[in-house]
Amino acid sequence: MILLGIESSCDETAASIVQDGTNILSSVIASQIDVHHKYGGVVPELASRMHIEAITPVVDEAIKKANIKIKDIDAVAATRGPGLIGALLVGFTFAKSFAFARHLPFAGVNHLEAHIYSLFLMKKQPGFPFIALVVSGGHTNIYYVTSYDNFELLGQTRDDAAGEAFDKVAKMLGLGYPGGPIIESLAKTKSPDVISFPRTMLEKGSFDFSFSGLKSSVARYIHDNNITTDDEKAQIAASFQEAVIDVLSQKLINAAKAKKCKRIGIAGGVSANKTFVEKLSKKAKDKKIEIFAPPSELCGDNAAMVAARGYTMIQQGNTCNLDHDVFSKNKIN
Ligand code: KG4
Ligand code: ZN
Repeated sequence: MILLGIESSCDETAASIVQDGTNILSSVIASQIDVHHKYGGVVPELASRMHIEAITPVVDEAIKKANIKIKDIDAVAATRGPGLIGALLVGFTFAKSFAFARHLPFAGVNHLEAHIYSLFLMKKQPGFPFIALVVSGGHTNIYYVTSYDNFELLGQTRDDAAGEAFDKVAKMLGLGYPGGPIIESLAKTKSPDVISFPRTMLEKGSFDFSFSGLKSSVARYIHDNNITTDDEKAQIAASFQEAVIDVLSQKLINAAKAKKCKRIGIAGGVSANKTFVEKLSKKAKDKKIEIFAPPSELCGDNAAMVAARGYTMIQQGNTCNLDHDVFSKNKIN
């Protein structure tokens, strides 16, 4: 089955052609980072307009790069939510119209499930069951995954997402957007142990997260110490990143222990952070837990993961019709 996947939930317009759910023939991503960069975050109305401009050329390019013809496409999948409503509408409506015009089955995919499916696009996939962390600009969710369709939500953030904390701290330091990659590269130049920022673990046994205290603590530190130099900023970046990594890693190991599970998969934009993957792998090794992380092109938003999730939905007859609409808040579990 040749599937066209489309993603437009936030600030990436993406299209991908995937064969039989796992073989990526093309994956095209048009990022809007340059547009949102100067505002220090995503401006929803601008995002919608950019998606409208990008969607047709991006789909055309995905078809061309896959070396197929439009008539070869057997099914269509697009992100249905959660995300920015105006942004989602562009990709979802495009995909719905495409499927309707060509009489093809159409799946409306949950963006968070799609991120988990990025782990099934790797050569070495995690076997079931495994603990999955979807960690991005909008979410920090831990799941217990027992099959291709079963995602038990164990915990989530009560305030900021981990990626959002990276973005906000980068903004405070005047480093630009998105903050994650900038903070990661600055952090490499300093020891992480110099400033002791809080690690919020919440109640014993909880798999929820809270990053707002850490964010406030960084803001206070910047204010009280009158931080201005690049050297000082790099020090804050290193110590802040370490605090986030410590909490994410500890909660993941705790979840694996609670579920007596020997596999952990991470997905979403923040899983592109190599320092995180290295430190988590090191902690997990002692406990004989195996870590799975997608290659960087599958960590952030992309349409290959949407096509992969759409493939299983279409096989099960879990499709959308013309009446179906997008949703902004998470519907998973
Ligand atoms: O999955 P994604 O592309 O979009 C959402 O669904 O949110 O994730 C984007 C988020 C941003 O907050 C960005 O700062 C963060 O992922 N991010 C990183 C890194 N690369 C991207 N965070 C930490 N380290 C990175 N290397
Ligand atoms: Zn995402």
